[in-house]
Amino acid sequence: MARLLVALGVLLMLHIASASKLVCHMTNWAQYRPGGGKFTPANVDPFLCTHVIYSLATINSFNQLSPIEWNDEQQYGSLNSLKNVNPALKTLLSVGGTVNGMSPFISMVAKPESRAAFIRSAISYLRTHNFDGLNLAWEYPGHNGSPQTDRERFSLLVQELSKAFEDDAKENRMTQLLLSASVAAFRPTIDKAYEVNKIALHLDFINVMTYDFHGSWEAATGHNSPLFPSPVDSGSHIHHNINSSLSHWLSLGAPAEKLLLGFPTYGRTFRLSTGATGLGAPANGPADAGPYTRTDGFWSYYEICSFLKGTTIQWIEDQKVPYAAKNNEWVGFDNRESYEIKVRYMQEQKFGGAFVWALDLDDFAGRFCGEGSHPLLAHLRSLLNIELPPLPPTTTPRPGASTTTPPTTTTTTTHAPGPGFCNGKPDGLYANPDDKTSFYMCAGGITHVRYCGTGSVFDESCKCCVWP
Ligand SMILES: *[C@@H]1O[C@H](CO)[C@@H](O)[C@H](O)[C@H]1NC(C)=O
Repeated sequence: MARLLVALGVLLMLHIASASKLVCHMTNWAQYRPGGGKFTPANVDPFLCTHVIYSLATINSFNQLSPIEWNDEQQYGSLNSLKNVNPALKTLLSVGGTVNGMSPFISMVAKPESRAAFIRSAISYLRTHNFDGLNLAWEYPGHNGSPQTDRERFSLLVQELSKAFEDDAKENRMTQLLLSASVAAFRPTIDKAYEVNKIALHLDFINVMTYDFHGSWEAATGHNSPLFPSPVDSGSHIHHNINSSLSHWLSLGAPAEKLLLGFPTYGRTFRLSTGATGLGAPANGPADAGPYTRTDGFWSYYEICSFLKGTTIQWIEDQKVPYAAKNNEWVGFDNRESYEIKVRYMQEQKFGGAFVWALDLDDFAGRFCGEGSHPLLAHLRSLLNIELPPLPPTTTPRPGASTTTPPTTTTTTTHAPGPGFCNGKPDGLYANPDDKTSFYMCAGGITHVRYCGTGSVFDESCKCCVWP
């Protein structure tokens, strides 16, 4: 009896664990980073995340959902062809940002007829490009217009979208489009921007952007994404942490299972202005911009890896996150240890899963950190215990080695034309004749290059990476 109960318990746990979402954002500006920083949908591993959100689209002057980059539609095709390889993958298009410094939502949400035009265009655009849903990056109009405030208009948009998605699914006998939102983590912004009890029910999931809590706009070092407050926090800064932010969302009526905790794959930097190097040390501005992301105050995980050479990682015990300092430069970031603690917190609080900003900021190809491809995301995926589709027989990695084994794919009969190696080849995995440490993944004729974990090589017979 006891044994049966244990078995049932394990089954139940597995079931709960596998319900976790891992929602990964990719950006359409990462394609412009130089060299090994360049990231396009060809770099997206179709088995890493349960959902991929393509950022960012906008709203044109006719209130229609519309692309931003010259090659967005080509990139949508490349991203959505990954669903031929992993049919369980869901993709969403994110809309938001600013146009001439203004949120493109403001004028669209103001009138019922412009909201209707947006909703019609969104359904047709998402269906045309084979997306599974829409993400609203509402960050964060908060005008007190007349007769409604922006936050009331946002509730109407969410309600009308959700109703229209339902009708579209019924009429066209298709799976209903998903609706999600990326939302603020600061308490005053949450209060100003959202009527939580009116939107939460209509959203499939809510990405709480639990990062950017501290950065080089402040005069003392602070961490990008701390789990808890620190003793150096004073005033409203005591709320600049994940726990405080998610508690606020819960207290306003958001169901825990719809809230996703934001995991950054980047850190925020400072330039130290005295000899002090700890948390709360005096700072005046950002460290040098990273050579790939080229943005002040911001380093990708793969840029941080290079910085860590020749210094020691420090741990902020109160906040459960690491930082490092070297040559007057300071960075607060996340690593596999802080991810582990955040996942445990997430599971204890029964949140719906994790979302990641962003795929293109992890060491996606394993070129920089010596930790295999996607050191942070692959670890996060294993912590969340997400069920994979049936795997091919694989070689057991060496104990303690960290490597991702490529999944096999069901070979379909398509012989789609396309540029490069995969032109005319059936979907599947292929050895790279020029480099044993990488392999090709073909999906819909599009060539994707994948890298084996450090030290392992691709083996044609199992279509997986093995230790030589
Ligand atoms: C986390 O937030 C809850 C709710 O606000 C609070 O009661 C708790 O003390 C917080 N935990 C820590 C370690 O700060």
